[in-house]
Amino acid sequence: MTEKLWGGRFAAATDALVEHFTASISTDRRLFREDIQASVAHARMLGRVGVLTAAEADVIVHGLRRIEGEIADETLPFTDRLEDIHMHVESRLIELIGDVGKKLHTGRSRNDQVATDMRLYTRGAIDRLRALLHALQGVFVDLAEREAETILPGLTHLQVAQPITFGHHCMAYVEMFRRDSDRLADARRRVNVLPLGSAALAGTTFPIDRWDVARQLGFDHLAENSLDAVSDRDFLLEVAADLGILAVHLSRLAEELVYWMSTTVAFIDLPDAFCTGSSIMPQKKNPDVAELIRGKSGKVMGQLVALLILMKAQALAYNRDNQEDKAIFFTALDEVEMSLSLLVRMLPGLQTRPERMRAAALEGFATATDLADHLVRRGIPFRDAHAVVGRAVRLAQERGLSLEQLSLAQLQEISPAIDAAALEVLSLEGSVAARNHPGGTAPAQVRAAIARARQRLAQEARE
Ligand code: ARG
Repeated sequence: MTEKLWGGRFAAATDALVEHFTASISTDRRLFREDIQASVAHARMLGRVGVLTAAEADVIVHGLRRIEGEIADETLPFTDRLEDIHMHVESRLIELIGDVGKKLHTGRSRNDQVATDMRLYTRGAIDRLRALLHALQGVFVDLAEREAETILPGLTHLQVAQPITFGHHCMAYVEMFRRDSDRLADARRRVNVLPLGSAALAGTTFPIDRWDVARQLGFDHLAENSLDAVSDRDFLLEVAADLGILAVHLSRLAEELVYWMSTTVAFIDLPDAFCTGSSIMPQKKNPDVAELIRGKSGKVMGQLVALLILMKAQALAYNRDNQEDKAIFFTALDEVEMSLSLLVRMLPGLQTRPERMRAAALEGFATATDLADHLVRRGIPFRDAHAVVGRAVRLAQERGLSLEQLSLAQLQEISPAIDAAALEVLSLEGSVAARNHPGGTAPAQVRAAIARARQRLAQEARE
């Protein structure tokens, strides 16, 4: 029973079920690189301040590097008996280098250790997420360029509203994913703070050099307060919230893909490699990837709530509850990373069906607002113009025609203010081209937005 690194004060062995219940190795094993990186930095610092001799620090660092290789090669067995990744590394170190290994834990605690590991891991995860968001924005910009002129019925309330271009729609997602990336970049500043040195909760009696460790690990700041440092998980809450918002975007995109791909809508086709079939209906090609992204997004949002509830009402400082943060956070992270990766692979193969989109726009009287605007330019107050066009829509509907197909005589019967120029504004192309200001759907503006986005993405890639 003394084999436990903390077993000194215990007279009886841990109950087997407790060992299983309290172990976190199945989850925190993925922190092994960060755990070793932080231990290396700690050992080097201890060597420099004289708590360890230089030779001792060297032996420890060497041993740690070897363990990193063993875990990477999957030759180090994991067991619930050793609880977590920290105990696995330390036990193995003692096994490998003997008594010197027992000095590694001088002046630190697993409490500041795990907080440091998680911050390192989260920092890396943010960088990976931002790279994926960058790639996804690039995919949408490419699609937008290809479809800058493609007419799509813009919807509000899922009802045809006004014609837009497919390119403009793509650029809306560029904006959403850009904000997601910016939010993560902002959170990264608060993630990149060093807890190590806080030890269990109160700091340590050894003459540690926290800035030395911070520099080695690339942290920008030291956590100011040891109690806060070991118990704070705001950095995870914040990134989980960013993931939650990102998941909202993913679900909205997924929903649109599913809707567009529906056989009754058929605005797009997704590549075969990203769709699946039915075990009974031979004709089926289902957008399962999009559906699962939509489905998993809810799971991501749920993790944010789970993490909030995990942290609520925890007294200072560290509590074992905190161990649960990892499974929650990793679940959210993994789902988002996978969804982003899939979209980056799938969307370049998206094919539009312009004839279907055009037909839907015409059927939905998408240019009705253009006609009303035209009448306003002829001196009719907008509210009256609205009513006139409403009557024109009713007439077209009764005749089974689109607005464009009404004759000038028919239109003039409704309002003599309608002239030949009105027929031009009724065209889908005329309608989108007229919304020619920054942020508008005119192909010229979409191209300008694409150019700005490309410039920004290139700039970000250099940073
Ligand atoms: N496995 C623990 C965690 O993830 C490490 C910290 C353990 N600290 C303690 N006082 N038992 O939170």
